[in-house]
Amino acid sequence: MRKHPRPLIIGNWKQNPATLARAERLWLSIQKNLKGRRAFSDVAIAPPLPFITELQQLSGTQKVELFSQDVSYHQEGAHTGEVSVDMLRSIKVRGSIVGHSERRAAGETDEAVNKKISALVAAKSNVIVCVGESERDTYGDYFTFIEQQIQKALLGVSEADISRVVIAYEPIWAIGTDTPAGPLDIQEMKLFIQKVLAGLYPRASVEKLRILYGGSVNANNAEPLLKEGEADGFLIGGASLDAKQFAEIVKIADQYEKFS
Ligand code: PGA
Repeated sequence: MRKHPRPLIIGNWKQNPATLARAERLWLSIQKNLKGRRAFSDVAIAPPLPFITELQQLSGTQKVELFSQDVSYHQEGAHTGEVSVDMLRSIKVRGSIVGHSERRAAGETDEAVNKKISALVAAKSNVIVCVGESERDTYGDYFTFIEQQIQKALLGVSEADISRVVIAYEPIWAIGTDTPAGPLDIQEMKLFIQKVLAGLYPRASVEKLRILYGGSVNANNAEPLLKEGEADGFLIGGASLDAKQFAEIVKIADQYEKFS
């Protein structure tokens, strides 16, 4: 039997829903739909920042961690619009997504991604770092692209700190399209990412790292993506705004041991 880390299912609400009242309803509905699960996988939501403390107060019986969708690498000061790692920590946010392709498209560089990861791990916060190619070429150049994205993102991140990092493979061509990458493509990319990581860290640490898949995951395709794709969980956009579907995916991941 292969050894797998515990799966992580994280919903990225992006700039949704439009109001606090709707965010609270969605949160409570996720809580309700998660009831009765065989809690095996870790579950998290990255809501828009203004809703985070309200959702924490609503809490609920199900353990759902809260993450930020982005973070500043500055500690404090004259950086209008930015939110620091310490601010997030002070309201008990577990960590942040970093390098989402939508942030990269808005100008975030590999260097900024690296600085954000360094700031998060230095404060003992958790990181979900997104990597992904915009298209696949027939020569496999996208593998080199992913390798470089990972190497640049993790520059200077120590062996002790790498345990706080989760990699989310999110091919841009699969995000929000209804067509996820195929399970075999995901399995192959996971293997490749592990090989890249093994060039940077001892194998024993790499084996414990979670490599998620993201891009058009829904309740219908989740099982093969976990089973044959061997993803260690998912970063979910659209389907995380549908409480029933999100909970369904969590419950599929809760069966993960059976897939191995
Ligand atoms: P999607 O988004 O699930 O809507 O494709 C994934 C993401 O952008 O993280």
